[in-house]
Amino acid sequence: MPKMVLSCTINGEETELLVQPYQTLLEALRENAGLTGAKEGCGTGDCGACTVHLDGKPVASCLVLAMQVRGRNVRTVEGLASEDGALHPVQAAFVKHGVPQCGFCIPGMIMSAAALIEANPAPTTDEIRLGIAGNLCRCTGYTKMVAAISEAAAETAGASSGGAGKGA
Ligand code: FES
Ligand code: FES
Repeated sequence: MPKMVLSCTINGEETELLVQPYQTLLEALRENAGLTGAKEGCGTGDCGACTVHLDGKPVASCLVLAMQVRGRNVRTVEGLASEDGALHPVQAAFVKHGVPQCGFCIPGMIMSAAALIEANPAPTTDEIRLGIAGNLCRCTGYTKMVAAISEAAAETAGASSGGAGKGA
């Protein structure tokens, strides 16, 4: 089957990839763009390991065809830190709280958490649990994750109200 040219923006850069029409966004990111942060756990939309942002909203990239993102904005965990290399508050909080164990679920979990905080800067614990409900972790309970996301939200809110925020 002939390949198609996919033009989209990935992590702020206009990008062209040659993809098969049946390739998923996850496959295009990992195999064509060399961005291996998003993981394939289930391939069926159940685990959240493949979560990326599409036009600012979290999506399971295993359920999106690559060509569906033509002309749209994709952000992966590789593009979450600031241009100066400063970690996103969720990333920093995950490190501080020692959240990752095997690490497989972490990029997807972080992308869901980052989208949650962008949509709801002051989430309650229940809202955080709901926000990461589509992300499964085989290693841990979710207590540290919820604590880290809660702290990241508070820091983000404090930074934006104090005028010393990092770009997300
Ligand atoms: S790999 Fe996409 S949801 Fe599990
Ligand atoms: S840290 Fe291992 S699956 Fe979550």
